[in-house]
Amino acid sequence: MDDNQYTHIAEIYSHLMSSIDYSEWADYIYDIGLDFVEGDKKVLELGSGTCELSVEVLKYFNNTVASDISKQMLDNAMLKRLSRVCCDMTLLPFKKKFNYVFCAFDSVNYLLESEQIIKMYDQVASVLTDDGIFTFDVSLENNSFNNTKFLNREGDYKGIKYKQVSIYNEETRIHENHFEIVLRDGKKVEELHKQRIYPFFSFFELAEYSDLYVLDCFDSFSFEHASEESERAQFVMRKR
Ligand SMILES: C[S@@+](CC[C@H](N)C(=O)[O-])C[C@H]1O[C@@H](n2cnc3c(N)ncnc32)[C@H](O)[C@@H]1O
Repeated sequence: MDDNQYTHIAEIYSHLMSSIDYSEWADYIYDIGLDFVEGDKKVLELGSGTCELSVEVLKYFNNTVASDISKQMLDNAMLKRLSRVCCDMTLLPFKKKFNYVFCAFDSVNYLLESEQIIKMYDQVASVLTDDGIFTFDVSLENNSFNNTKFLNREGDYKGIKYKQVSIYNEETRIHENHFEIVLRDGKKVEELHKQRIYPFFSFFELAEYSDLYVLDCFDSFSFEHASEESERAQFVMRKR
């Protein structure tokens, strides 16, 4: 991933995500944790961004570590006392084990190559206790088909002007979000964020080559089984 991704977005990320109910999302993460993990939770979030969700999850699990590849995103977290570690989810630096690892809101889609998904699975397995679980969501093709129109937008946030152009390419299965930002000092910057929209079954198939297996897979925000038709799927994995 390009090191510069999120450099300028970080400051306006919370604004761009203001329609997202992170408190409800945290309830869902909590419910999955209750259903699948026994006892006290030692929690690690991957791809936590500006930690909007981590802060909500902290209300349930006070032993939560947030992590992200972008230092800028972590630096923009509202709650500075939250434990934050800057790292790549395909190369985790932790010696400590966690019994609940989660990754939310498309962060896994930012891994553009299948090999990175396998690497990420294996790295999560290496920090997961034997009875622990890993849960993550992915954005599927129907999400790109149905919701891209809402991601073409422009505005002004605390003096920072932004324009977002969102395009899904069915052939390459790459969903691009292009941001044009005019900073407070008038400097114009551009950022391109790419996500791969993997076929639903890829996540099961790639697990075959890794130290994790899929225990369950839900249509996101529910406990109904997901399918290729889902917009977003929530995977629950355990160590082999
Ligand atoms: C769409 S944001 C989601 C942020 C957060 N989970 C949320 O719910 O607001 C995707 C995040 O994934 C992070 N990311 C992308 N590739 C990553 C990687 N290889 N390792 C860790 N984080 C990564 C980005 O820096 C970004 O903060």
